[in-house]
Amino acid sequence: MSKPSDFDISRREVLVVGAVAATVTTTTGVAHGQQVATTGAPVMARVAFTVNGATKSLEIDTRTTLLDALREHLHLTGSKKGCDHGQCGACTVIVDGRRINSCLSLAVMHEGDAITTIEGLGTVKSLHPMQAAFVKHDGYQCGYCTPGQICSAVAVIDEIKAGIPSHVSTDLMARPQVTPTELRERMSGNICRCAAYPNIIDAMTEVAGGQA
Ligand code: FES
Ligand code: FES
Repeated sequence: MSKPSDFDISRREVLVVGAVAATVTTTTGVAHGQQVATTGAPVMARVAFTVNGATKSLEIDTRTTLLDALREHLHLTGSKKGCDHGQCGACTVIVDGRRINSCLSLAVMHEGDAITTIEGLGTVKSLHPMQAAFVKHDGYQCGYCTPGQICSAVAVIDEIKAGIPSHVSTDLMARPQVTPTELRERMSGNICRCAAYPNIIDAMTEVAGGQA
């Protein structure tokens, strides 16, 4: 019968060593977590931009999205939080002429930018042509997605006028046309649970000067 060497280790000893290692790991993890919790104070920063033509300056947590800055800090609640994950388009605003999902963008990234929300497009007494067209063509039902739809629609018409192609533009060298296919593709990031899509396309077509 062979005699155990100095390096032999019993099953019981393996279990004891494993349990000690697990305890050390867990304890280290908790200690690390506690450290994060106690030193994780918000990092604040000042950011200034214009919103609907007015200069705004905010001292905010650097983790604040543009959407939350608009809604919670500036109380412009027209832009909606649907998914908060860049998937529905309810939060669409126009920044320096381009539409973006404001839930996917940190407010501090917009120093000096010109931001337009639905509140800046028109008023109840003086609707933006796109707002008036949505009303005329019944381009909404519950209205939750509508501010994002309208901001996106306004920027889409400008994109087409600027000659920017889309994924369905057949000739990338030709100026894109205002067709239902082009409009549907360009608006595909704006989801409408009420399925007002055909009427939205009619409204956009009319504003773009086509036949709805
Ligand atoms: Fe921003 Fe849905 S809330 S894309
Ligand atoms: Fe209800 Fe679009 S009008 S989600």
